[in-house]
Amino acid sequence: MNKPSLLVTRSIYPETLSKLEQHFEVDYNKTDEVYSKEGLIQKLQGMDAAMTTGTERIDDDVLKACPKLKICANIAVGYNNFDVASMTARKVLATNTPDVLTETTADFGFALMMATARRIAESEHYLRKGLWSKWSLDMFTGSDIFASTLGILGMGRIGQAIAKRGAYGFGMKVIYHNRSPLPAELEGACKAHYVSKQELLQTCDHLVLVLPYTPQAHHTIGAAELNMMKSTATLTNIARGGIVDDAALALALKNRQIAAAGLDVFENEPALNPELLKLPNVVLTPHIASASRKTRLAMAELAADNLIAYFEKGHALTPVNTF
Ligand code: GLV
Repeated sequence: MNKPSLLVTRSIYPETLSKLEQHFEVDYNKTDEVYSKEGLIQKLQGMDAAMTTGTERIDDDVLKACPKLKICANIAVGYNNFDVASMTARKVLATNTPDVLTETTADFGFALMMATARRIAESEHYLRKGLWSKWSLDMFTGSDIFASTLGILGMGRIGQAIAKRGAYGFGMKVIYHNRSPLPAELEGACKAHYVSKQELLQTCDHLVLVLPYTPQAHHTIGAAELNMMKSTATLTNIARGGIVDDAALALALKNRQIAAAGLDVFENEPALNPELLKLPNVVLTPHIASASRKTRLAMAELAADNLIAYFEKGHALTPVNTF
């Protein structure tokens, strides 16, 4: 029997590729160059399946041009690159990679928040520039993590893992806002208290964004929200670009309306708002929150296992749509 055809849109680990080649006729983009929309359509036409990352947009134009496509397995927990409604209407299964990245991503969110509050990147740049000539008492003073108030916006698996780090490891008071409060036992396990978005913004010392991107979540944090925050507060975004209005954030950081920000995701990434690059009080990383070797391999393996299970057993492991 012919193997189904699969387009792998990015470079993946050799062990995952060999596994896929046992089950599929694989066309593989080993250059990591992002396909243009036309390029993606050209590659995907006639294919049964795709393994994608957050940078390949699977929208109705792509789906219409690729009618043989049956499944897209994203190597990411977020799937805002998928037009899920069109995929469902056209009976194309979408899968993501939840759970395997939760703890790694929470570690990174916490690390970025700490680097931001304690001015680690800013002070390191100062050293590298050879500017350190004497020690002084008020040199690079930041704000404490220990016993401060952690505010989490979006309380899914990663939000809960960050809450536990804060509550148990650092004696933080944890408050959160979400579409709906967590069940009492989950709240208890995180030692977290549900508050309104306004109370969250007004009272937290360190705000961490972990909500999924949807059109409704666009610019959840803009000028008005930044205005509500304490001037000593920090903001960390490990969720998605577009949740924060980067231009408004750059202005708030410049005017010291908030103290500092840690950003792993950006509007229009990999391009950055040039204003952010000029600011000392922002820590910038290139969308690497889940990037431990072990976790990135686990994500690629889960995406591969979704594809294999779908073609061999008729159901995927972690689907995000049903029809
Ligand atoms: C990364 O951003 C992911 O969604 O997994």
